[in-house]
Amino acid sequence: MAEYGLDPGGVAGVWPALDGRGGGAHYYRLMHTFPNLTILGHPLIKHKLHVLRDKRTPVKDFRDLVSEIAMLMAYEVTKDLPTEPVEFDTPLEHMTGEKVAGKKLALVPVLRAGLGMVDGILRLVPAARVGHIGLYRDHDTLQPVDYYYKVPSAREQRDFFLLDPMLATGGSAVAACATLKKSGARSIRLLCIVAAPEGVQKMLDAHPEIPIYAAALDRQLNERGYILPGLGDAGDRLFGTR
Ligand code: PRP
Ligand code: URA
Repeated sequence: MAEYGLDPGGVAGVWPALDGRGGGAHYYRLMHTFPNLTILGHPLIKHKLHVLRDKRTPVKDFRDLVSEIAMLMAYEVTKDLPTEPVEFDTPLEHMTGEKVAGKKLALVPVLRAGLGMVDGILRLVPAARVGHIGLYRDHDTLQPVDYYYKVPSAREQRDFFLLDPMLATGGSAVAACATLKKSGARSIRLLCIVAAPEGVQKMLDAHPEIPIYAAALDRQLNERGYILPGLGDAGDRLFGTR
C-alpha cells in the first residue's frame, strides 16, 4: 500500500475499521485517500471474517459465513434508510409506529460469488427484488467478461446494493456499476467482504459517487490479481469448485 501513502501496520497489514469506531492518524489518512470506502468493523463481522479467511474452513461453513457476514453488513449499511409513520392497532390500543420509507431496495449479486451474499440480506429485507450480473475475470488479462444481465425494472426509483465478496483489481465492480448506471440506476452501493486498495482506487476514479462498504481492506494484490492476505478464490470456495 506504499504507493497510496498508507501503512496500516499490524501483522498482515489489514486495516482497522473505518466506520467511526477506529480513530487515530491512520484512520483519518485512509478516509482522506479513499473517501468512497467504509470498513465495517463490528466485532462479529471481524470474528466471522477470520474464520472465512482460514484455508481449513470447509465449503458449507464458508457459505454460511458469507451469508452471515452479508447480513451483518446489510444491517449496518441500511442504518440511514428513512422511515415514515404508520398507524395500526396493537391488541390493546391504537398506535403510530415506523416503517421503512423511500426507495425500494434491489440486490444485485455479481455471479458467481455474489450469490452467496443474497440470502443473508434477504432475511433482513425479504421484500427486496433481486437482479443478476454475470461477469467473470479472464485469468490471463484480469479483464471482466460479461455473460448475463437481468435487473428489476423501475431502476430510477430503486436503491441498488451491488454484491460481490471480492473487490480486487476493481475491473468487475467498475464494469457492473457502469452497466447498472447505463440501464437507469441512480442509487448504487457496493457491498464487498474483502477489498484491495487497487480496486477501491479504480472505483474512486470511475464511479466516485458510489459508496463502497467492506468488511476489510487488505494489503495488496499479488501478481495474479489475488488479494493478499485475502481468502482465495471466493467463487471456488463458495461452490466447492477447483
Ligand atoms: C471474482 C470475484 C469478483 C472478481 C473480482 O470473480 O467474485 O467478481 O473476481 O476481481 P476484480 O476486482 O479483479 O475484477 P471471478 O471472476 O473469479 O468469477 P466467479 O465468481 O465466477 O468465480
Ligand atoms: N477474486 C477472488 O475470488 N479472490 C481474489 O483474491 C481476487 C479476485
